[in-house]
Amino acid sequence: MAGTGLFEEIKEEDVFKYYADGEWKKSSSGKSVNILNPATRQIQYKVQACTQEEVNKIFESAKAAQKLWAKVPLWKRAEALHKAAALLKEHKAPIAEALVKEVAKPAKDAVSEVVRSGDLISYTAEEGVRILSEGKFLVSDSFPGNERNKLCLSSKIPLGVVLAIPPFNYPVNLAVSKIAPALIAGNSVVLKPPTQGAVAGLHMIHCFHLAGFPKGLLSCVTGKGSEIGDFLTMHPGVNCISFTGGDTGIAISKKAGMVPLQMELGGKDACIVLEDADLDLAAANIVKGGFSYSGQRCTAVKVVLAMESIADELVRKVNAKIAKLTVGSPEDDCDITAVVSESSANFIEGLVKDAKEKGATFCQEYRREGNLIWPLLIDHVRPDIRLAWEEPFGPVLPVIRISTVEEGIHHCNANNFALQGCVFTRDINKAILISDAMETGTVQINSAPARGPDHFPFQGLRDSGIGSQGITNSINMMTKVKSTVINLPSPSYTMG
Ligand code: G3H
Repeated sequence: MAGTGLFEEIKEEDVFKYYADGEWKKSSSGKSVNILNPATRQIQYKVQACTQEEVNKIFESAKAAQKLWAKVPLWKRAEALHKAAALLKEHKAPIAEALVKEVAKPAKDAVSEVVRSGDLISYTAEEGVRILSEGKFLVSDSFPGNERNKLCLSSKIPLGVVLAIPPFNYPVNLAVSKIAPALIAGNSVVLKPPTQGAVAGLHMIHCFHLAGFPKGLLSCVTGKGSEIGDFLTMHPGVNCISFTGGDTGIAISKKAGMVPLQMELGGKDACIVLEDADLDLAAANIVKGGFSYSGQRCTAVKVVLAMESIADELVRKVNAKIAKLTVGSPEDDCDITAVVSESSANFIEGLVKDAKEKGATFCQEYRREGNLIWPLLIDHVRPDIRLAWEEPFGPVLPVIRISTVEEGIHHCNANNFALQGCVFTRDINKAILISDAMETGTVQINSAPARGPDHFPFQGLRDSGIGSQGITNSINMMTKVKSTVINLPSPSYTMG
């Protein structure tokens, strides 16, 4: 059970502690923040409401710890990360349980998230050892006007303190995808977990604690966004921000100082289906891509753009698969579970009502109980319907019928979001041309969008993000280049 056994020290009475200076602490505010179970809508957990003063102390310790950590040999940093990865996998059960209870992640997916996170940490440790052990050696006489008397040695050094802010849908995996690259590169990390997902995040942090990382190197602060949100992101102690989430990221980008930003802010991932596509394959991917974790993935299929000639058959096949999805509790490992909050459910309902009012075709009856929304395919969606453009982040999927491929590409490129997209066709040449024309971070050919494998580059264009993620890119992003130039005596100098 979450918070028991090995994890007992991270909780007192019914409130989980925050983590600073290598210790589990209670906030001096004496206040806590409630975490509601999305399925029961009852209070499931409570976390500390940290103060700005506590945040200041965390940054002070993070700065001091980072200076020492940067001097720890790379192989030792990797060793510590491998240890954390093993602990995380060993203790997957209580972490997965928290994911089930606070973000309604289906039980098997919750376990997979923790295992995937352990693998991500280990891969990062290995990748870091390789890429950070290499630097560059340059000589000066390649640039006009120079002799061969300057030798430049450059290597990668850490940025300092990385502020990591993961989202509710992957509070463990998208936290370690920021923490592990930061640590292997010699940075320290301040983690601000999402409120829904904070308890899973605190359990994950305890695995790093048990792995024996130095005090202050990694901290985890919980609290109210109104009290510590801007205070964290605008803090002078921050040297890099890695954020995954929604619109808040745009506000953070505008307020953040002169620090490198890594942002992933959602998508309206389009799925273009051509006349020659394998429709069974397309339908299977549309359902898996559109409805897994109830559509609450930035890489979920969020709009189907189907050629008119095959649209009826495709919709039939998709509907047949939707009918088989199980709807219910995450503990029972149902395919469709409650969306994360009442406000999310209300937002999704607003999009559904708009589509109804504007005459789109509902393939299933709209049904909602609390935060649980039954899977819904909405056909004949036109551009004046909000669902054509907006991201529901729920189990509702619009189909737009297109008469030319260009129409589909245009729809994809006209959206402010540009994370991923996919195209289904048996003609590989056509697929590549379409991929080239789709102005989006990644295009999948004959498969649904997905972030993984976690070492692949992962990036959004336009409002979908800043920079590129994936293990290698994140390690590089969390470093800067430092050069030392050896100036030899002028060429007129003689050795004799
Ligand atoms: O929600 C955004 C995640 O980065 C998506 O990851 O494709 O592995 O579900 P995923």
